Amino acid sequence: MTIMTILGSPRRYGNTAQVLEWVEEHLKEMGHEVDRANIWEYVIGHCRESHQCRFPESSACGMPDDAASLFERMLNSDAVLFASPVFCYGFPAPFKALIDRLYCLSGYHEGPDAAIRLHGKRLALLMTCGGDEESSGEIMSRVFSNLVRFWGAKDAGFWLSPFSDPGGKADPALKPRAVGFAETLGTP
Ligand SMILES: Cc1cc2nc3c(=O)[nH]c(=O)nc-3n(C[C@H](O)[C@H](O)[C@H](O)COP(=O)(O)O)c2cc1C
Repeated sequence: MTIMTILGSPRRYGNTAQVLEWVEEHLKEMGHEVDRANIWEYVIGHCRESHQCRFPESSACGMPDDAASLFERMLNSDAVLFASPVFCYGFPAPFKALIDRLYCLSGYHEGPDAAIRLHGKRLALLMTCGGDEESSGEIMSRVFSNLVRFWGAKDAGFWLSPFSDPGGKADPALKPRAVGFAETLGTP
């Protein structure tokens, strides 16, 4: 399989990046191809709610930025893994901008090209946070499962890793969990 991974952390070598790297390593060992995008290296504008993407003559978002190339890579992949820190019980702003823009690949279109483009796509979410699992786990897993339903996609796994080292790197003791998460994601 080709699995696209999207790092939503501003820290290229932080907790989320480290856990994601362990997951990616194992996916590659399983024989999968990994296509990584670091969201902070792309220009992703904010959804302006033009609703142009809902009408036949404009089948996707018309905003002229880097989002279209990311959409294409997502659609060309068998699965997409989002990896992000928890920021204020949600996603960091640039990553949230991408999530909002995925509206154009959802089932909200009208007319003959009303395909739900993310329909059936296997999506997974991996998050790290500074607090405990209870404080952010329930809300973030609920957000994720609601999004998966809205996009008509398939849930391929959710994992929130708690008590990360602020400004540091993930504890190597987390690696076996990362490998287990990769096993689930990489086994259709
Ligand atoms: C602006 C900001 C908001 C945060 N909000 C939360 C939060 O709501 N809940 C939580 O448990 N941790 C929160 N954290 C901690 C981060 O989620 C945690 O340190 C994360 O692992 C950072 O990932 P990184 O090293 O990949 O950047 C926040 C950190 C920052 C900088």
